[in-house]
Amino acid sequence: MHISRRKFIELAASFGASLAFRSGYVHASSIQWREQRDFYPQGVASGDPRPDSVILWTRRAPAKNSTAKKLIVEVASDPGFRRVVATTSVTLSSEADWTTRVLAAGLKPRSVYWYRFTDEYGFGSRVGRTITAPVEKDNRPVSFAFVSCQNIQMGGSNAYRRMIWEDERKSFADQLSFVLHLGDFVYEVVWYPEDRPQGYYARRLRDVVRYPHGEKIRDFHVPATVDDYRALYRGYLLDPDLQDARARWPFVCMWDNHEFSWKGWQSQQDFSGVRPAQTRKVAANQAWFEYQPSRVVKSNPDRDSFTSPAVRDTSIREFDDHGLGLEPGNLTAINSLKIYRTLRWGRNVELILTDNRSYRSEPVMHRAEAVSFQPKQFPYVLSENVVEVFDGGREFDHGKPPDEISFNGNVIANPRKHSSPQSMLGAVQKAWLLEKLRASSVTWKLWGNSVGMGDWRIDFQNLPESAGTKWPDAGYATFMDDDWSAYRQERSEVLDFIRSKEITGVVALCGDRHAFEAGLVSPSLPPKAFEPVIAEFVTGSISAPGIFEAAEYSLLKDHPLRAIYLYQTSREATVQPAINFSIMHGVRASLALKRTGDARRALAERNPQLAPHLSFIDLGGHGYSVVRAGSAELEVEFVCIVRPLERSERADGGPLAYRVVHRVKRWMHGAGPQIERTRVEGALPLVL
Ligand SMILES: [Fe+2]
Repeated sequence: MHISRRKFIELAASFGASLAFRSGYVHASSIQWREQRDFYPQGVASGDPRPDSVILWTRRAPAKNSTAKKLIVEVASDPGFRRVVATTSVTLSSEADWTTRVLAAGLKPRSVYWYRFTDEYGFGSRVGRTITAPVEKDNRPVSFAFVSCQNIQMGGSNAYRRMIWEDERKSFADQLSFVLHLGDFVYEVVWYPEDRPQGYYARRLRDVVRYPHGEKIRDFHVPATVDDYRALYRGYLLDPDLQDARARWPFVCMWDNHEFSWKGWQSQQDFSGVRPAQTRKVAANQAWFEYQPSRVVKSNPDRDSFTSPAVRDTSIREFDDHGLGLEPGNLTAINSLKIYRTLRWGRNVELILTDNRSYRSEPVMHRAEAVSFQPKQFPYVLSENVVEVFDGGREFDHGKPPDEISFNGNVIANPRKHSSPQSMLGAVQKAWLLEKLRASSVTWKLWGNSVGMGDWRIDFQNLPESAGTKWPDAGYATFMDDDWSAYRQERSEVLDFIRSKEITGVVALCGDRHAFEAGLVSPSLPPKAFEPVIAEFVTGSISAPGIFEAAEYSLLKDHPLRAIYLYQTSREATVQPAINFSIMHGVRASLALKRTGDARRALAERNPQLAPHLSFIDLGGHGYSVVRAGSAELEVEFVCIVRPLERSERADGGPLAYRVVHRVKRWMHGAGPQIERTRVEGALPLVL
């Protein structure tokens, strides 16, 4: 589809960008560009490519008595800027924290471009590289990376360094076309180093951000104003590896929780109890808009900059049937920026990105009434039965919720008997998602899903008496209290829709869990029916600690369940993630592993009902994932690096822990997806 220059001007303005349109006149740059990176301390970036356009970004802050009011951007088809194809000038102001967005348009599809910014004094940004998407009928395979959860305060971004190093060694046809970031781009919960001189686990806390206002909660700080949220992005983007990645590929970003608030939902925060935070949600949205070049819709699309709507922190008293708070300020805050959207790469890839935080109902397992259902001696898990009853509310079991729930020898009235089921997406976004899935004609409908979908279970009900502790009910334990595995009713609704409409090729790409996982998603698992509808791949965190690391530093040496979480052949030996083994094979297999020291023999005691849906799981892995999507199959490669406690000085970002590739072949309706492991490099950590 050909779009006119005039249309592009309107389009650019709608997401707060100026337009640099490719003219027919290709010329060598005549600008006196002198690279001055310290005037552009957050580097450059590009985002949301389409076949004809991409958004470019930088920040030119006042520095060393030099304040620029204007930048020229140049877009060229060569890194030396001898073939400049588009240029324009943009104004800078403190209103957008000196950030700027440009829509480079009229570009050729599936092409590499270079771009740079220069101020009125000739001080230039570094040179960025970006890539447009292929046209819709292009049938060639598409490669891209997906990542999540970078905690710059607690670790190095070695994953990005490796991603760059590997990409530079590939041919253009095999190189990454973009990086999908599934959220936790920043962590708003910040410990100043002096708050925790002992560090965090074995990690050193870096001095990444100081909030100009901020609020101290227990021993950490959270942002309170837009200046605080901006300071967070400014601090994070000083990271050299993250900055180099943003300068090499276009990013496609979806936020998760930490871009606003750790236990945030809609415009509410939860630090030992829910409290209203409409003003902070707006502030978080504004900073995200200013720092992530994306095709997203502000509530004031007619203005270049994000204008904060006036809201007050007001408690929500009324909710719709999806748990959406009807308080006007809540609606204003969450609608101040709409970022769920789709993007397409040729005939094989449509990316459907959902916002899993802004419209979700309050996570029920965080509420006070869930406290009596905490299995206290069992770290990181809840009862699957309890979660199911709580999540389903009055819709549980087709509208037959129980009056009471038995747990730990007590019978407690079901506090959710008359309540709405939970919703992750809200009614409007859910309808949008289902329609996008139904209407998509591409081979792979890739759901960019900030949170994981499939269940991680442990069969604690099968613990032998000798374990010294007893699981409080007859069913499974489940991890994760606020992702899709706890929003089960709506998960089933989406899966049932996909099945009933005979939609195939849906694969969820997920973050948030700080673990690598490959699996199939079914509305239920044994002893109920196992009927996979879609495939799922979860990427390990770039750097934030995961559950294995937490257990390593939190579980006491004499904890009765230590063997379920941690495996150590001797006091001096490295601790290994028995938790991987327990989630795949069950508690009896992990106890046998401890007893025999032989993983293959331990498998004789595995529970085949536990995880028929899982192909791979590693709760200790960090790194990134690469998707290769072709017309017949989709491959996902997990690139796992060693725990990034410190930044590696090596050009390859430091040692690889392992690389594992899984493949899903295109499937026909009725057949269902299947996952095969096709390649392993290095040793997998207790994954058999
Ligand atoms: Fe995270």
